Amino acid sequence: MRPTQAPFPSGRLRRLRSSAPLRALVRENGLGVDDLIWPVFLCAGNGVSEEVASMPGVLRRSVDLTVEAAAEAAELGIPAICLFPYTDPALKTEGCEEAWNPGNLTNRAIRAIKAEVPDIAVMTDIALDPYNSNGHDGIVVDGEIVNDETVEALVKMALAQAAAGADILGPSDMMDGRIGGIRKALEGAGHRSVAIMSYAAKYASAFYGPFRDAVGATGALKGDKKTYQMDPANSDEAMRLIERDLSEGADMVMVKPGMPYLDICRRVKDTFGAPTFAYQVSGEYAMLEAAAANGWLDGEKVMLESLLAFKRAGCDGILTYYAPRVARLLKGA
Ligand code: PBG
Repeated sequence: MRPTQAPFPSGRLRRLRSSAPLRALVRENGLGVDDLIWPVFLCAGNGVSEEVASMPGVLRRSVDLTVEAAAEAAELGIPAICLFPYTDPALKTEGCEEAWNPGNLTNRAIRAIKAEVPDIAVMTDIALDPYNSNGHDGIVVDGEIVNDETVEALVKMALAQAAAGADILGPSDMMDGRIGGIRKALEGAGHRSVAIMSYAAKYASAFYGPFRDAVGATGALKGDKKTYQMDPANSDEAMRLIERDLSEGADMVMVKPGMPYLDICRRVKDTFGAPTFAYQVSGEYAMLEAAAANGWLDGEKVMLESLLAFKRAGCDGILTYYAPRVARLLKGA
């Protein structure tokens, strides 16, 4: 039972807001470095780093520089890094074969990071869009994104990433049956400790625009992703997807995008009590950074407030491009 608040004037709710120590004592939620997963973009070459135009401060890095970045992240105490490749357009095909090439950019980066930075967990993205000549997350046959053939391809991709040493696989494709298919294949191949963080409630969102620039998918994408990503109008459907993915073997679930979907985060956490993550996506980052660059918002304050909001909404952690910046701030470094 909640105690009844004494009526005014004996009950003054402002009392506990009257000084910094009192506010600290009654603070309900907090943001820590342990809550962060850092998404990073890979590109070919050596010693290469280039800024993503629509994401100021975010770089694409070649594998060697990604290893250095991973080492810095580990030093800051960031628990995990998530890899996204910018694939050479010449390697993109309709069959997406590059996705399960053991020597592709992602798999080379996984091996290099695991060899040199053992203290950070490496997460991957499982979807065909970086390797697909038409920019879709699944295989396209006669204009249709075909589910079951795509799942077979995703399973091959997952096995290649697990073999390279990935700690967490992140299927982001939204096909039906992919979590079960991947989990069964991982067990069969002896990868019993590889965790799956399912992009379970992933919406067909306009907030992914800058990401598609970052991975070079913008020009390639034909049409939209509405036949597989969720309708932003739906909430019950998110619960069905989360329940399904947990039952198929997901260890953690994700809601994506983040800030416009905090109601979904809260509902997921309250309903399932499972490890719940949100992805503060590229468009959310770009939006805050653009306003900050114009002097319309205090960039540092909105960064912290936006991330704390995920904790208040019940998330255990956040994928955010701000990870190193916020980690430095939290550590006072
Ligand atoms: C690929 C994928 C996307 C994002 C993560 N994985 C783009 C998409 O679905 O089109 C977006 C991340 C971001 O916007 O930061 N399936």
